[in-house]
Amino acid sequence: MDRASVGVTLFGLLLVCATAAPTKKERDIDIYSFHINSTVTSRYAITVITSRVANRLNESKEVHFQVKIPKNAFISKFRMTIEGKTYDGVVKQKEEAQQQYSQAVSRGESAGMVSSVGRTLEEFKTSVTVAAFSKVTFELTYEELLIRRLGKYKLLINAHPMQPVADFKVDVYIKEGPDISFLEVKGGLSTNELASAVSTTRSGNEVWVTFYPTREQQTKCEGCAENGLNGDLIITYDVERLNPSGELQIANGYFVHYFSPTDIQRIPKNVVFIIDRSGSMHGRKIHQTRLAMLKILGDLASDDNFGLITFDSQVDVWKRELLQATERNLKQAKDFVKQIQDRGATDINGAVLKGVEMIKRHPREGSASILILLTDGDPTAGETDIERIQANVKEAIGGKFPLYCLGFGFDVNFDFLEKMALENNGLARRIYEDSDADLQLQGFYEEVATPLLTDVQLNYIGAGHLTQTSFSHYYNGSEIVVAGQITDNSLDTFQTEVIAISKSNKVKYEDSVSVKDIAGMPEHENFIQRLWAYLTVKQRMEKEVTLKGEEKEAAKKEALDLSLKYKFVTPLTSMVVTKPHEEDTQVAHKPKEGEQPRRPFDRVQALPQLPPLGSGATKRPMFSLRHPGAAVMPALSGQAGPSGFPASAGRQGIGPPPFVHSPGYFGPPPIVHSRVQSVVAADDYDVQSVVADVVDGDFGPPPIVHSRVQSAVAVDDYGGAALLTGIDAGPAPTAVTFQMTDLPSPPESHVRFLVTSSRQPKPLCYDVPLASKLRLLMDPSSEFSMNGELKLYGGKGFKKIVLHYKTNHHLTISTSGIRYSDGQTPVKFVWGQEPTKHETDSVSLILKNDELNVTMGTVRVVFLLHKKDGDVFLWPAVRQLPQGITLQGILGKTDVQYELLPQSWIKIKDQEVLAEASTATDHGHASAPRVDCWLVPLRFVLQGELSDFTVSRL
Ligand SMILES: *[C@@H]1O[C@H](CO)[C@@H](O)[C@H](O)[C@H]1NC(C)=O
Ligand SMILES: *[C@@H]1O[C@H](CO)[C@@H](O)[C@H](O)[C@H]1NC(C)=O
Ligand SMILES: *[C@@H]1O[C@H](CO)[C@@H](O)[C@H](O)[C@H]1NC(C)=O
Repeated sequence: MDRASVGVTLFGLLLVCATAAPTKKERDIDIYSFHINSTVTSRYAITVITSRVANRLNESKEVHFQVKIPKNAFISKFRMTIEGKTYDGVVKQKEEAQQQYSQAVSRGESAGMVSSVGRTLEEFKTSVTVAAFSKVTFELTYEELLIRRLGKYKLLINAHPMQPVADFKVDVYIKEGPDISFLEVKGGLSTNELASAVSTTRSGNEVWVTFYPTREQQTKCEGCAENGLNGDLIITYDVERLNPSGELQIANGYFVHYFSPTDIQRIPKNVVFIIDRSGSMHGRKIHQTRLAMLKILGDLASDDNFGLITFDSQVDVWKRELLQATERNLKQAKDFVKQIQDRGATDINGAVLKGVEMIKRHPREGSASILILLTDGDPTAGETDIERIQANVKEAIGGKFPLYCLGFGFDVNFDFLEKMALENNGLARRIYEDSDADLQLQGFYEEVATPLLTDVQLNYIGAGHLTQTSFSHYYNGSEIVVAGQITDNSLDTFQTEVIAISKSNKVKYEDSVSVKDIAGMPEHENFIQRLWAYLTVKQRMEKEVTLKGEEKEAAKKEALDLSLKYKFVTPLTSMVVTKPHEEDTQVAHKPKEGEQPRRPFDRVQALPQLPPLGSGATKRPMFSLRHPGAAVMPALSGQAGPSGFPASAGRQGIGPPPFVHSPGYFGPPPIVHSRVQSVVAADDYDVQSVVADVVDGDFGPPPIVHSRVQSAVAVDDYGGAALLTGIDAGPAPTAVTFQMTDLPSPPESHVRFLVTSSRQPKPLCYDVPLASKLRLLMDPSSEFSMNGELKLYGGKGFKKIVLHYKTNHHLTISTSGIRYSDGQTPVKFVWGQEPTKHETDSVSLILKNDELNVTMGTVRVVFLLHKKDGDVFLWPAVRQLPQGITLQGILGKTDVQYELLPQSWIKIKDQEVLAEASTATDHGHASAPRVDCWLVPLRFVLQGELSDFTVSRL
């Protein structure tokens, strides 16, 4: 990526506001019971969340159910019970569910049902209408195989019921084959006031953890207010590993083999780090990369050999050869790392091939070779064809050693990196742009720092339908898991054999277990079978990425069939949730890694009215918003003032204004899970509201919030306004300072639109008030819709326009960039680019400088980015429409026939109106000429009220 496309990813200013939630003892909508029950049997975790809610009102109400689950998990059941009737979610093939329920999908209801939040969690949410004085029970089940990383398994349970609950329980039961060797209960829910609510019992191979906070504790704990608890319970543990040949479990014709020998000498590494230093790594990313590399170099063992490659459009090596990690070499390498500067474009192909060549030139007996690529962008220099890069890299590596790809931030094409890694026996990991990115990099390195075995092959006699059985490397702290079906029913004993290469020689581990002894133990039930299905689905989907043609289809089909059979909501399936009383059906899809929720705030409320200012109000030239995320917090814990804003904070002085937001989105501190895209700050003194875009605020636990605030608008009660611009304060400090400057021009109250008439020389024009979200164009017959949002402040046009086509094409155009997704690979463009093209069957996007030419089916629209008088805005110009169809939306009226009567009266159909001779700027052309027009009321041109042409969501 080059410098031009750095960072700006604003997704529009959204108003997220406060509601003064009164504290009541008896809630109208009362979650009277909330249980989480997690059972882990030999690393396989099945978790059930049950929420019971009563509507205590004398009228029916919408009741919400909203929970967070680990990304790695598959939902396997969802059930609602209302008035004695149960409604089960049904898992179907994704396309089938999508087709059947395309209406729900196109309205966007499905989009929010499961969405990615933060690094490790997904949010599931739904709602149902509950009759007066009735109850509803929601039950959600999800399953996951706990993966051993750095010597531990981790079970994460998130609890955020949204209100204090009388009967609140988390029960965890873990049962492993071998004894538990290590156990720790962590997370926000296990600390301070809540610590006494946690109880842990451990006995041999079993663990019980309960968390039963009283209602009192749910409100009195740090950061808990009327919204109750919000936090994680994290249980980490490990098991004894006495048998080097691993642990074998068998039940009902299925087996699982956990292989993780510990008593082995480490194998020296040949490791090459390939580091992106393109312009987009500028700032904190390159700083963190340097920090991480210095630490990683310090951790190399003295018999490791290493190489360093840095690249932009040019590929540079520290030394042409791999060198031993001697003190002297490490010192030199560290000096080199400290000098790494960002610049230029991204030649991934050249850099990786260089790394492969270096490793190949340096064969060593008894060593393990590893290639690690760190990049934050797409290939933009050298070979840029993604498929050709993948083919080149695969051919060069030839299956000889693994390639790990670390994608830094969200501007990377993660699919590309993932495929390249999977094709070369490695894996891809996302590094989240955050203040702990250096720790994430180090953490990844630690996982692969200690190879113990290479070329690991696991064999089973009399078994079939095996999950992956060969692994290029086995690292200390990890675990190899293989599951399969026992196909030979006559077996008395089941035999395992593992062949691998250790530091000094070939090794073989063998074991055999009597099938009779183990089978039929009640607690095994069918978890092994489910584990096998879970693992097979995951691996077939990964495999599918690297395959082509029939093989690809076969892998996909196998994953799909198993997902359907075991009712897993996977990327190939969806769950259809049907509700009572003809309410809308919802469809839950599993989001892809890195997928941003399409509508992050769908419960945005109106900005509450603030009381008028006292006469003594003065303007402040400048103020500082400390940490945006941190600033969110006081509003929640403070008492609501008369205006609905906390009375305790931000009244006087230059301190940060309190931030307020919809309580549904961010729970109380200290953990902010949400991806915050915008926040609204307000005080009742002299700044009425501040709207700040927080970019890439993707924070998971722990409570580290670091966001980049680009700009904000403050409006005071006298109609004065100020534009605030802020910058990210860089690596360590998380303060953002806003400089308040006067807006360049007084705010317009409307935007003027032009409509031509084929039989009249002069076009008509009409004004649309600002702050409207408009339906621009809609053609239900071709499933096309285009909506736009006008700039709220000082704007002459749109800040964001969103197009939806069929069910899977979504194009978001904002003044800061363009994002397109066809349900698979998202594509991003940045304004001002050299001519760039993206074409699929029915969609074409051509970007040239500040013009984006979009064709979707039979609709063609050109979007112009206008920059004028310090204002930047978008304007759509329709160039082609389908013929013979009535189109909805304000741009659907392209040719309005009118009659000019004497004294500037204008007649359309049977209506007459007095027009005003005026002018308008034609933003449909780059030159934006000024034209004469007849100004008439909107109603008159559009033959409807403004409300007929507005939408609540883009
Ligand atoms: C949790 O679920 C397991 C398995 O369904 C069940 O045996 C157990 O009784 C449940 N525990 C509680 C406390 O509900
Ligand atoms: C519900 O209760 C309120 C206040 O108790 C009352 O004013 C209202 O009429 C009741 N509504 C119905 C539908 O019974
Ligand atoms: C593997 O990890 C364990 C536990 O972290 C450690 O005790 C052991 O020394 C490590 N083995 C090697 C060869 O580094």
